[in-house]
Order: sequence, then structure tokens, then C-alpha cells
Amino acid sequence: MATFRIRGGRRLEGAVRAGGRKNSAVAVLPAALLADGPVRVDNLPRIVDVAIMTRLLISAGARLQGDGSGALWIDASQFGPKPVDSVWAGRLRASYYLLGVCLGRFGEADVPMPGGCDIGVRPIDQHLKGLAAMGAEVEIAHGRVRARAPRLHGAHIYLDVTSVGATINLMLAAVRAEGTTIIENAAKEPHVVDVATLLLAMGASIVGAGTDVIKVRGRNGLLGCQHSIIPDEIEAATYMIAAAGTGGDVTVENVIPRHLEPITAKLGEAGAEVLEAGESVRVRGPRRCRAVNVKTLPYPGFPTDAQQPMTALLATAVGTSTVTETIWDGRFRFVDELLRMGARIRVEGRTAIIEGVPTLGGAPVRATELRGGAGLLLAGLFADGESEVDAADFVDRGYEAMETKLSGLGADIDRTSAPGDLADTLWAAEDPAGRTAGRL
Ligand code: EPU
Repeated sequence: MATFRIRGGRRLEGAVRAGGRKNSAVAVLPAALLADGPVRVDNLPRIVDVAIMTRLLISAGARLQGDGSGALWIDASQFGPKPVDSVWAGRLRASYYLLGVCLGRFGEADVPMPGGCDIGVRPIDQHLKGLAAMGAEVEIAHGRVRARAPRLHGAHIYLDVTSVGATINLMLAAVRAEGTTIIENAAKEPHVVDVATLLLAMGASIVGAGTDVIKVRGRNGLLGCQHSIIPDEIEAATYMIAAAGTGGDVTVENVIPRHLEPITAKLGEAGAEVLEAGESVRVRGPRRCRAVNVKTLPYPGFPTDAQQPMTALLATAVGTSTVTETIWDGRFRFVDELLRMGARIRVEGRTAIIEGVPTLGGAPVRATELRGGAGLLLAGLFADGESEVDAADFVDRGYEAMETKLSGLGADIDRTSAPGDLADTLWAAEDPAGRTAGRL
């Protein structure tokens, strides 16, 4: 297990570049399997979840080739239908996209139940309801989802909850179905739009992505194309919050400022100065932030994936803040670890009441999931003294070289790497056929 050792209390300064968006990348890669020709994907983040997804695509029969610059060619002409590998699929939430892709392309899918971070109950009933409406017979048995439909047909689907995963999965299933599919109460997250942009480049017919009604007209074949992943707003938000909490002055490059508006607005309320310029955003933190109230909501609300870094920031703000988590009920588990660092936080149901303290004290802490890990890392930066944050295995899933990027901003952080680190193993390994899975 690799941990981060952080000596906190340093002001962060300088520039840092956000990579490609994790939750876009893990949908775009399986979506590429819908094309009959090769697809080139650029701006892929070098993170464990992307590496795992490349493994899944290879297990399903796709050929992958990286060029060392963050781009990957995906050739799905020899692809499936094969049962998707359960070892890797069980480690990743986004493995559920292979359901929509395999059903849409072959009329059958055999996919393990998805894994991913332990942040509360994570049902996939809306995915399955939509696929059933499109004519699929779905069975869950022995930890796998098996679905069949000679050919999916268009359907009118109303999502009972706004789900990013179900919206994308149903778009993936619908682009090669017969007839028109309408998804109502669809998620509006920019990565839904990013996946639609890729599918449009393949020749699909989609209108309304980015609104709550998406219409997809099915086509028989789709073409190869090139696509570049949009920037990761959660990675950017994490560095923005780190800048605000250390009284720093940091420019985050390669961002789409409009996607960061909920973060910009809250940091502004908390007393930070946020300046947008083209594709970058500069954050200057006050000596100490002020308390604010935050409620997580689907886009364009405050993103749940930035909740824990924000909670860490508010732990040292002047005054009492509230943070209400409406998406995942397990995302306050990391609060116990913040308490070890001297935070004063009480969780009542889905709301954390945070009495800001002048400073946290470094301590050994342990993450149990990705964004909680990022929150604890930030708490280590805000704290006096040394913290040992046992979080690397989680943080590597979604943040590209986080300790290197933070060191570049002046943080005093290093990492103890242990042999068998998942990130190192995955990125270094080649599969037996010699195709490069991880050489992005
Ligand atoms: N939900 C259902 N039924 C479903 C699907 C979702 O009840 O069939 C509920 C969930 O329990 C949750 C809410 O709907 O309360 C929203 O879930 P959603 O489906 O939008 O989440 P997801 O697709 O499983 C993605 C991201 C998460 C991110 C959420 C919300 C991926 C791979 N994961 O999850 O990212 O928190 O959307 O924006 O895209 C992360 O990056 O750390 C992460 C957890």
C-alpha cells in the first residue's frame, strides 16, 4: 500500500494543468467499441480507472494501441461478443457501459455487476429499466448481468432519478437500435455531452445532449473517428480548493471555466478571488476562508465529487458551515478521519455541520474511497505538522500524478511506493498479444 506523507502549512503557488476528465474517459473508451472502424481518443488521463477500462476492452476482444502522448487507437473490428472479464470489471463502476455497448452492437451482453468506490448504495435499476423498454431480456445471476435482444428498438424512457450512468448507457444502446429513443429526465453533465459528441462524430443521430430530454435515432453502422476528452472539472476543482485553503495563488490550466461555475461561486462566497481567463482559472485564497453552505446536486449544481475536498476546506474556515450530500449517502465516512486531525464536524443524516477551527493538526489517516482520499490529502496540506495519508490506491484511480502536481505548486508531499502498486503494474504491463494497454 502506498501512502502520502505531507508536511502541511505551505502556501501553494504556480500553475497546474488539469488532465482529461475521468468520468468522460471511462465512457468514451467503451463507446468507441460501437464504431465499425478505428477510433482515436486523445487527452486520456493517466489514471488507474482508465488503465482498468483498457483491460476490459482488450478482454472483450478490442485491439488497442497507444502512441505515448495520451492518445489511444481502439480498433473494435474483431471485438466480442465475449463475456466481459469479471476480475477487472468488479473494480470499476463504469464497466456497466459495456452492457449498453454489447447489447447495441451484438444484441447480447454478459457483464459482471459493476464495482467502484464504496460511497453508498449504487443501484443500476434505471439502466436495466431503460434496456428492458428497448426490448432486452435482462437477468441478474451469480454476480453477472446477462441481457439479450435480437435487435434493440427505440423506446420512450423516463428516468425516475437523474442518473449520469443510465443516461449514457441508454444513449450507447440506442445509437444502433431500430427507431428513435427518447430519454427524459436525462443527466446534463458535460461528460454526457462529451460522449454524445463522440457518437455524433461516428455518424450517430442525437439531439438534446446537455438538456433533460435526449433523442437518439438509431443507425445500422457507425464510422471510426477522432475524439478529444474534455478537461476534468473535479481534478481542477480539487486544485482550486487546495489553493483557497492554503491562502495560495494557483492557476489551473486546461479547464472549461463554465463547467467550474458551482466551485467558482462557492469559493468566491468563501472569500477567495477566482479569475477566469480563456482556458484557465486563477484562484487566490484569503488568509482564512469564511464558512459557506453547500448542497450537492446533479449538474449544474455543486458536484458530489468535489464535496469532500470542499468539506476539508470548510473544516478550517471562520464560522459554521453546512454541507448537504444528496447523491451518495456514504460520502461522509471520511469525516471520522478529519476528526483525528482536530476538525469539529457533526454529521446529522445527510448534512455535516462544520465548525471551522483555526488549524488542523497533522495525523495518520486512511481513506476508503477516491474523493475521500483527495479530501484527506487536502486536509493534510491545510494542517500544521506531518500527516501520513493512506490513500494512494484510491487517489490513483482518478487523479493523475497528484503528488507530483502538488509538489510542483510548492506542497511538501512525497509518496511511499510499495511493490505491486496497482497504478505502476497496470501502466507498465503489456498483454500477451503485445498490444499496449497502458502506454498512453
Ligand atoms: N441511481 C439509482 N438507480 C440507477 C442509477 C442511479 O437509484 O439505476 C441513483 C444513485 O444511487 C445516486 C443517483 O442516482 O443516488 C445518481 O447516480 P448516477 O447514476 O448519476 O451515478 P453513477 O453513474 O453511478 C457517476 C460517476 C460518479 C459521480 C456520479 C454523480 C462515473 C463512472 N461515476 O456515477 O463519480 O459521483 O455519476 O455525478 O461516471 C467519482 O468520480 O468519484 C464518482 C463516484
